[in-house]
Amino acid sequence: MQFSLWHASLSALALSRSSFLQQSSSALLSLASPPPLHILEPPPPPPTTTTPTTTTTATATAAPRTGRVIIARATSNDGDSQIASVAKAFRNDIQTIVKNDPSLAGPLIRLAFHDAATWESSRGSTSSSSSNPYFWLRQQPSGGPNGSIQYELGRSENRGLSKPLQFVQNITHGYAASLSLADAIALAGASAVEAIGGPTIAIRMGRIDATQADPEFLRTPLKASTRRSIVTKTLPEAGLDSDGLRLYFGQLGFSEKEFVALCGCHGLGRHVSLLGMPKDCLRNLTRTCLEEAPVLLPFVTKSVDTFDNSYFQFLLKWNSNDIKLGDVAFIPTDVDLVVDTGLKRWVDYFAQDQNAYFNAYGQAYQKLVDRTATTQERY
Ligand SMILES: *[C@@H]1O[C@H](CO)[C@@H](O)[C@H](O)[C@H]1NC(C)=O
Ligand SMILES: *[C@@H]1O[C@H](CO)[C@@H](O)[C@H](O)[C@H]1NC(C)=O
Ligand SMILES: *[C@@H]1O[C@H](CO)[C@@H](O)[C@H](O)[C@H]1NC(C)=O
Repeated sequence: MQFSLWHASLSALALSRSSFLQQSSSALLSLASPPPLHILEPPPPPPTTTTPTTTTTATATAAPRTGRVIIARATSNDGDSQIASVAKAFRNDIQTIVKNDPSLAGPLIRLAFHDAATWESSRGSTSSSSSNPYFWLRQQPSGGPNGSIQYELGRSENRGLSKPLQFVQNITHGYAASLSLADAIALAGASAVEAIGGPTIAIRMGRIDATQADPEFLRTPLKASTRRSIVTKTLPEAGLDSDGLRLYFGQLGFSEKEFVALCGCHGLGRHVSLLGMPKDCLRNLTRTCLEEAPVLLPFVTKSVDTFDNSYFQFLLKWNSNDIKLGDVAFIPTDVDLVVDTGLKRWVDYFAQDQNAYFNAYGQAYQKLVDRTATTQERY
């Protein structure tokens, strides 16, 4: 299984600082001249699609596969106590299992991110995109945390996610229809963090499951002046430079502080190793070979099964060439965070203050998964 938080590329790529800088003169350029669409501050919160009202009808949709009683899915119409008890029990289930096998945490968090981050704020006209960074506020959003990941498993960026999805679905069955898949995935991502030493993150409920895949490509590609910074997909690609990260996460309404915090859980990432791979696979590296690779190597060895701030500490060590072979195997989007001086501020901050990281991560995660939720309360 491929555990990297976003792009599931086969990457035995252990970048040294000097080779990264040589490869990416565009990254250096971007330090000197910020692109026109350089979002330093978070844009105002985008409009929510579903206006939460107190009269939302309970939706008892998909018939449960078990013979249990159908309870309406959590909506703002349900009693708080019922939603609270379902959410609490589901969180406990996830936590018990993840505490027993902490290597499940990374894939569950990645699953939540990949379900949620396909949100696109604009689905409309593209004409004014280059001149007005807030153009999307006039448009209807799409995608987002709506369980659509179940229809998107064939995409290369979702390689390796079928197992964590099945895992969540298996547990969700125990709750009959009282949990939407979207709620279950969002809760699992939060509970997994808590189970391995991270903060407790309460989230809203009442997400409604999609009946089809979210778009794979942005209707409006995002461009900056640097060569590599063209964002075309609804999930971030591993080769984005720092301006690409700003464009991508800016579109989702995240500030630099928030997206650097989200990147922190890349410390739980693992990548596919060729070690022990069957000969046939070495000849023809099919998707099945990648998903069933016997050996996975951590991006950041020390913190791979613990939610802490060592990802940031190792980025700083990498940046000062103070790194031992085998300690880290960063990909470009990791090292972007220290090569770019603006983003490095937040790496410094989180590396020094783990509580600050936990708070920032929790808030960013809520923002990520709560967009399509309908309850006001958090559980
Ligand atoms: C999520 O999926 C549902 C069903 O396909 C869709 O109606 C909804 O618009 C999607 N979310 C957003 C924010 O558009
Ligand atoms: C989910 O349940 C099925 C049927 O019981 C089982 O075969 C499968 O291994 C389970 N998958 C995970 C990831 O738990
Ligand atoms: C590699 O495997 C895939 C899937 O089995 C197959 O379609 C493809 O033709 C193979 N490529 C080579 C070069 O053997």
